[in-house]
Amino acid sequence: MKLNKLFRSAVEIGIEADPRGKKYIEKIFKRTKERRAKLDGKEKEWFDEERTWNPYGDSRVISGTGEEDVQRLMVCIDGEIQEMLLADRLRRNGERIDAVLIHHPEGRALADLDKVMPVQVDVYAQAGVPVNHSEGLLRPRMDRIWRAIHADNLFRTERAAELLNIPAFCCHTITDNLVWRFMEKTICKKQFDTLKDIVNATHEIEEYAWYGRKGSPTIIVNGSENARPGKVVATEFTGGTNGPEELIEKQSHAGVGTILAMHFTEKEVEKGKEHHINLIQCCHMASDAIGINLLLDRLGKEEKRLSTLDVSGFIRVKRK
Ligand SMILES: [Fe+2]
Ligand SMILES: [Fe+2]
Repeated sequence: MKLNKLFRSAVEIGIEADPRGKKYIEKIFKRTKERRAKLDGKEKEWFDEERTWNPYGDSRVISGTGEEDVQRLMVCIDGEIQEMLLADRLRRNGERIDAVLIHHPEGRALADLDKVMPVQVDVYAQAGVPVNHSEGLLRPRMDRIWRAIHADNLFRTERAAELLNIPAFCCHTITDNLVWRFMEKTICKKQFDTLKDIVNATHEIEEYAWYGRKGSPTIIVNGSENARPGKVVATEFTGGTNGPEELIEKQSHAGVGTILAMHFTEKEVEKGKEHHINLIQCCHMASDAIGINLLLDRLGKEEKRLSTLDVSGFIRVKRK
């Protein structure tokens, strides 16, 4: 399958799993096109056409024309210059690599990371936080993230991939949506007596078990093993990056008892303690791997010959 087609399918799959729902996203596209029609000058010239069909600023093809035939992907959670050099070396050794799939955004996908953060509003809404509260708190956090990224050296990987002739694309919020939905269904919807029972349930999932064996199990960051979980949510799995720590308090008021996340900031841990919210940190790399695996399972239905070479923290686990 052509890279562009594969990536478009990935975007569709991300939209299907999106907490905002497909109708809402279609409205975003409509508004974006209306806005585009009114632009002029540099704003018109620099308008990102991708925004008219791909709601994920942190996911895009960052190297290649998109016309490349793709069957074998090198899949990485972090894909930087070292992974590009690795891909090049492996190719020279005779390994087939048609393109590199990167989870954590690089290049333009990293430049636009803050733009996906509004996804969090709907994630928190499903946990019971009013949208006006999370929107109000999210805006200053988005500004901080934007300013931090703005100062980064963003296009090193992209340039390396280009020079080495390696097609590459990022799928970030696309696969994080998939793992968020998976955690909601597999863990949050079930009844547990204690936090330890939740930890054990995550270890029944192959990616978490693999990392657990390697010394990175699911850990309780706040609360005790025998504590009762109350209402369990997975609010920190999608939406670009961690939300503002004030949202821990908001979730407490909304009746949340336990939050599952891939990573908590120190400030979030403090807030968790202050507001008696249990915090369970599921292995970050395993969580990201689950999302990527769910995407690959779906893409594999469209491209039957799809195979992967797993590097940079990714492990392939197939599900029916
Ligand atoms: Fe992720
Ligand atoms: Fe991640």
